[in-house]
Amino acid sequence: MADPRVLWVTGAGSGMGRASAVAVAAGRRVALSGRRRDRLEEVAALVEQTGGEALVLPLDARDPAALADAHDEIRSRWGAVGDVVLSAGLNAPRRTWADQSMTDVQAVLDTNFSAVVRAVDAVLPDLRTSHGQVVVVSSYAAWRFSPGAGVAYSASKTALSAVCQTLNAQEAAHGVRATHLCPGDVDTEFLRLRPAEPGAEARARMLSPDDVARAVRFVLESPAHVRIDELVISPVSQA
Ligand SMILES: NC(=O)c1ccc[n+]([C@@H]2O[C@H](COP(=O)([O-])OP(=O)(O)OC[C@H]3O[C@@H](n4cnc5c(N)ncnc54)[C@H](OP(=O)(O)O)[C@@H]3O)[C@@H](O)[C@H]2O)c1
Repeated sequence: MADPRVLWVTGAGSGMGRASAVAVAAGRRVALSGRRRDRLEEVAALVEQTGGEALVLPLDARDPAALADAHDEIRSRWGAVGDVVLSAGLNAPRRTWADQSMTDVQAVLDTNFSAVVRAVDAVLPDLRTSHGQVVVVSSYAAWRFSPGAGVAYSASKTALSAVCQTLNAQEAAHGVRATHLCPGDVDTEFLRLRPAEPGAEARARMLSPDDVARAVRFVLESPAHVRIDELVISPVSQA
């Protein structure tokens, strides 16, 4: 029997990354990255309960050497990466031209854009051999201008559309597919980074991480000749 397919998830310790890792874990080898080791260990246990194998690889996605080391570790343990789900992301409460800091702007761009490009660049040779998929957890703000999302966040997530389109245009010959996944409001820890954190009532109207994980699973389980270029998923109440 062929070896289980290898999936690498960033932002795997919480929210949509965590839910996606668990949703597709059965029969897969899942490498889990994020900064908080304890969160990744919890997700690893869930992956294993679901019938997958887990590898905890804590890292700061903004650190190129840490990304390269994690990729080397996956390859040496399990071989080529089959698919990636890139969910690590950042926003800053002070996010308008009137109040943003350039330190925050740089951190958002590094996390949401540069780290995604770097991770894809590292795994692309693997994806070419495995006919792999890249699922980029972008944002509704990348699909339709969202005034509250902020300068750096909107710019970084909008750029992910180009990342996915260039991958699809240039790497289709190798069977590589990319999905620009654009969720609307999702009830996760991420909402703490808003200028005003939504309360329980507003959160209850939002998507759950599991709603998005179902979409990720749909993408990853699509037949090899099917490409999901972009997927927008929002709660009925999305503004
Ligand atoms: N929630 C929403 O309404 C919403 C809507 C649209 C899109 N999104 C996007 O969805 C993605 C997932 O967010 P979420 O809502 O699921 O929130 P979340 O639970 O806060 O997930 C974000 C994850 O990214 C990880 N992360 C952040 N910076 C990192 C870094 N430098 N290196 C490695 N990992 C890092 C965090 O883990 P550590 O802190 O442990 O590193 C965390 O697990 C993000 O890209 C976000 O922009 C969110």
